[in-house]
Amino acid sequence: MINNAIPLRIAGVGYSVPKAVVTNEDLTKLYDTSDEWIYTRTGIKERRMVSGDESAFELGVDAAKNALAKSDIKADDIELIIVATSAPSQLYPAMGCRIQAELGIPNNIPAFDITAACTGLIYALSIARGFIASGMYKNILIVATDNNSKLLDWSDRSCSILFGDGAGAMVVTASEDGVDDIISIDIKSDGSIGNIIEFNLAGKNCPLVEPNTEKPQFITMNGKEVYRFVARVLPEYVEQLVANAGMKNEDIDYLIPHQANLRIIQAVQERLGYSEDKVITNIERFGNTSAASIPLALVESVEQGKVKLGSTAILTGFGAGMTWGGAIVRLREGIC
Ligand code: COA
Repeated sequence: MINNAIPLRIAGVGYSVPKAVVTNEDLTKLYDTSDEWIYTRTGIKERRMVSGDESAFELGVDAAKNALAKSDIKADDIELIIVATSAPSQLYPAMGCRIQAELGIPNNIPAFDITAACTGLIYALSIARGFIASGMYKNILIVATDNNSKLLDWSDRSCSILFGDGAGAMVVTASEDGVDDIISIDIKSDGSIGNIIEFNLAGKNCPLVEPNTEKPQFITMNGKEVYRFVARVLPEYVEQLVANAGMKNEDIDYLIPHQANLRIIQAVQERLGYSEDKVITNIERFGNTSAASIPLALVESVEQGKVKLGSTAILTGFGAGMTWGGAIVRLREGIC
């Protein structure tokens, strides 16, 4: 951290999910699969999917309104918008710019999108921390939103079973009481294995140069390789994150991980020696909602009384890139 860094306060967290629920049983109408196969390998029973006017944008706006309402910051006072999205409803204008317009946030602020897939929320939080620490911006809106269901190949049964749609949002601000809600934060990437989850914008070459070059555009994933990589890297990484913060595993109240696969979450849980009540999962009902998954798990678990505020939590995510990251955060009363 820079000298005289300004501490950060998490002021509000919100989420939004689409209305339509698609169960494992529903997926059997698309291909040869079963609830038992999906549930035992992933922990997923159902997920939400956008329909009608719903999209990553619309969910993002809703989550942002939700986070702002819980915070003590007004939309007019937001000085920067960062949107983490890898399955946006539109590549440009950036979702950040569209959300700015929709929320009526003054037009003299910057807004941009970042692509860090399912680690997007941690990446955005790390960027926001830098801007706040340096004094460049005070009030920042982070939105993490993905409509994965529109980018999936609905004949690929090993990939399309995993994902759902959703959005999360966080309002962060310069802390005025000297307490930093980010006890520690770290982000990583390894582009050399980027091909294990991809979404290619293949496009279409100019017909004068090469006719008929359009290719289908879907998320492709080598599930086994992703699983192997994450199961190898993540448990040790999270343990190290705690040690690097000068803390012990038992100093932290909750682990709120990216919801990609219950078996991966359990591997991290075992490494940290945590009991089940310390580990937050809602993958059963939402599947993998990419960047939205951590804030969605956080707020939903507070609503359900599983997470008590006035506590500390490890947030950790991983995804395409490959990217991964983690933050140890203070969860103040009233943030969600
Ligand atoms: N229903 C039934 N059978 C299926 C199936 C489905 N939905 N999907 C794949 N299969 C079959 C395959 O055809 C294959 O059959 P075969 O052995 O006769 O060829 C068999 O099951 C094994 O397929 P495989 O793709 O190797 O399955 P897996 O055991 O690796 O499980 C995942 C697939 C996706 C559940 C698992 O790899 C995984 O969770 N990976 C991590 C992915 C992840 O977290 N991605 C997000 C990162 S942010």
